[in-house]
Amino acid sequence: MSYKKLFDLKGKTALVTGGSGILGTHFCSGLADAGANVAVVDINNQSANELASKLENIYSVRAKGFGCDVSDPISVSLMVKAVVEHFGEINILHNNAAGKSDDLNAFFAPFEDYDLDQWRKIMSVNIDGMFLIAQAVGKQMIKQGKGGSIIQTSSIYGVMAPDHRIYKGSFYLGRQINTPAVYSASKAAVIGLTKHLATYWADSGIRVNTLSPGGTESGQNEEFSRLYSARVPLGRMARAHEMVGALIYLASEASSYVTGQNIIVDGGLQAW
Ligand SMILES: NC(=O)c1ccc[n+]([C@@H]2O[C@H](COP(=O)([O-])OP(=O)(O)OC[C@H]3O[C@@H](n4cnc5c(N)ncnc54)[C@H](O)[C@@H]3O)[C@@H](O)[C@H]2O)c1
Repeated sequence: MSYKKLFDLKGKTALVTGGSGILGTHFCSGLADAGANVAVVDINNQSANELASKLENIYSVRAKGFGCDVSDPISVSLMVKAVVEHFGEINILHNNAAGKSDDLNAFFAPFEDYDLDQWRKIMSVNIDGMFLIAQAVGKQMIKQGKGGSIIQTSSIYGVMAPDHRIYKGSFYLGRQINTPAVYSASKAAVIGLTKHLATYWADSGIRVNTLSPGGTESGQNEEFSRLYSARVPLGRMARAHEMVGALIYLASEASSYVTGQNIIVDGGLQAW
């Protein structure tokens, strides 16, 4: 038996939502490097197309960008149809998109003042979007009759509370930040959806798992990085490429007996 081949994704088609984001870019690149054809799905059509062209050039796989708002059922249904028309089938789904907000003041508002419309807007992407995409792609996988692998991105804050003390003096996106409750609640819901679908679709050979990243370096100020890192057993924030190994494992035959799990890639933060 070639154990290395278990990780090979040649001939598979992967659909990645939030595909041209900070982590999404690494996820799509990792899947392509493992041999998969990649449908890069993002609300930002242009960045999705640009990344897809790069993947084709660098990894010699088929890749295409698809503009889609995962919170809109019509947009999702048209996108999945277009992906199937282009690639023939979908074998791997990485449900990864998450919304921040156009209005960062509303997104980072204190809980006591949090606006219901803002709460709903984030939920509509982070969990309604996961539901709509899993529903549309799961239906397609069942139609294909070959099983499949679904990976859903949660977060360390789907399994543990943020330490609110680390946000004092922490700047990102040009302002003071925190982790809003809507983020924690939506990410905990992702884990619930994963477990439900893992048992629901087990008979169809569709495995469903969660990947939970810890805080990843992406331009946070030094103070945030210092305070966050001090709580992490490995002593630092994650680097975006460090999420990819777990994704390829979950996407491939290497994890053929793994379903309903949550792989937490957090430098040990959750282990204290
Ligand atoms: N970066 C981290 O530190 C970190 C930590 C834990 C979990 N995560 C999770 O990892 C995933 C990727 O995060 P990221 O850091 O790459 O964030 P990001 O903001 O860079 O990427 C998110 C992507 O989703 C897209 N998107 C937003 N709304 C959308 C919609 N309605 N429809 C389709 N696409 C939409 C954005 O355009 C963006 O490309 C998210 O689920 C996030 O919650 C990230």
